[in-house]
Amino acid sequence: MHVLLLMVLHAALCCASSESNKESIETLMDHVLVLRVPYGVSSSVYVSLTCGEAYQNQPVFWKKNGMELSPALEGNQVRVLVEEMDGGNYTCHLGPHGEYLNHTVILIQLDPDNRTVILEEKSPEEGHIHCSAPNYKGLFHCTWTKTQSRSNAAVLLVKAERFMEEIPCELDADRSGIHCRDVNCPYKEEQHRISITVYIHSNSRLEAYTKAFYLRDIVIPAKLPNLHISDGKVFSWSYPDSWEKPCTYFGLQFQVKVVPNGHSCNSGPGIVHMTDETKYEVNVKTRSYVFCVRAQDKYTSGPWSHWSQCIVNKKHVTC
Ligand SMILES: *[C@@H]1O[C@H](CO)[C@@H](O)[C@H](O)[C@H]1NC(C)=O
Ligand SMILES: *[C@@H]1O[C@H](CO)[C@@H](O)[C@H](O)[C@H]1NC(C)=O
Ligand SMILES: *[C@@H]1O[C@H](CO)[C@@H](O)[C@H](O)[C@H]1NC(C)=O
Repeated sequence: MHVLLLMVLHAALCCASSESNKESIETLMDHVLVLRVPYGVSSSVYVSLTCGEAYQNQPVFWKKNGMELSPALEGNQVRVLVEEMDGGNYTCHLGPHGEYLNHTVILIQLDPDNRTVILEEKSPEEGHIHCSAPNYKGLFHCTWTKTQSRSNAAVLLVKAERFMEEIPCELDADRSGIHCRDVNCPYKEEQHRISITVYIHSNSRLEAYTKAFYLRDIVIPAKLPNLHISDGKVFSWSYPDSWEKPCTYFGLQFQVKVVPNGHSCNSGPGIVHMTDETKYEVNVKTRSYVFCVRAQDKYTSGPWSHWSQCIVNKKHVTC
């Protein structure tokens, strides 16, 4: 599991507004400089690089993306010209063919950064990052999908915070999601949103994706377990194990739907009922149908769980 380092966000939000039509250079993290350039304007910017104080009196030579430069770039402190999106990984070496000493990656971020190309939009409402939590304990999971043409893109950094408090996250093994734990969370009224920023780059292009939400808006109960039938017409199910106890305090309500055989719970026509009970008696004439049930938080009317279903085919029932 790749552990992603998270930096405390000392976000001076006041000062973050960008001066348009002007390039700026900032250090995003160790070894990474971000050059912000105005969108739609051709740019050509000198960037200063330093190999490191430790090598002050050494013969320092630079390479870009592992290639020697011509003419050779020599010196502990140098300036490189970055045109358009032509950033790269500048490594400094001891002597023209000598050992690696240090490196600086120059990435380019367009300003404004709203014409993104690296991640797919999940939906206009949801944006590019989908987050969900199985309960209110503070554990949540976010995922994203790279566009096909940018499948080489790599996550550089993820920052997660709530009102200046850092939230620790771990990158998933497939690097297309994060698990986070907001330890300060449980049972307080949520006043501030959680904010997630994913910095991802494809070659030299850097994009930052931000998502802000209240935990209560992303809590989705897990699919209801133990759905079964008794007496030929009474269906019952359980609260998900991941849902919080006591149930009286964290109540769920259930939507029950009976759809014709061969239809799916999502799209099929059907009779819909709401209930707080974990059982429901079906009263239909047909002996073949699909019984569907899903849950939502009763008090917040938050998102619905996935459907659980039983297919009833005369005497034969599969749940
Ligand atoms: C390597 O470069 C970084 C800047 O990118 C600098 O902060 C660091 O001190 C350098 N390392 C050494 C050993 O000089
Ligand atoms: C840049 O090059 C250094 C040295 O080869 C390497 O350790 C580092 O991972 C590279 N970084 C990126 C973003 O390619
Ligand atoms: C991006 O932002 C600029 C200025 O903030 C705006 O004019 C433009 O319409 C936005 N483009 C998209 C695709 O959202």
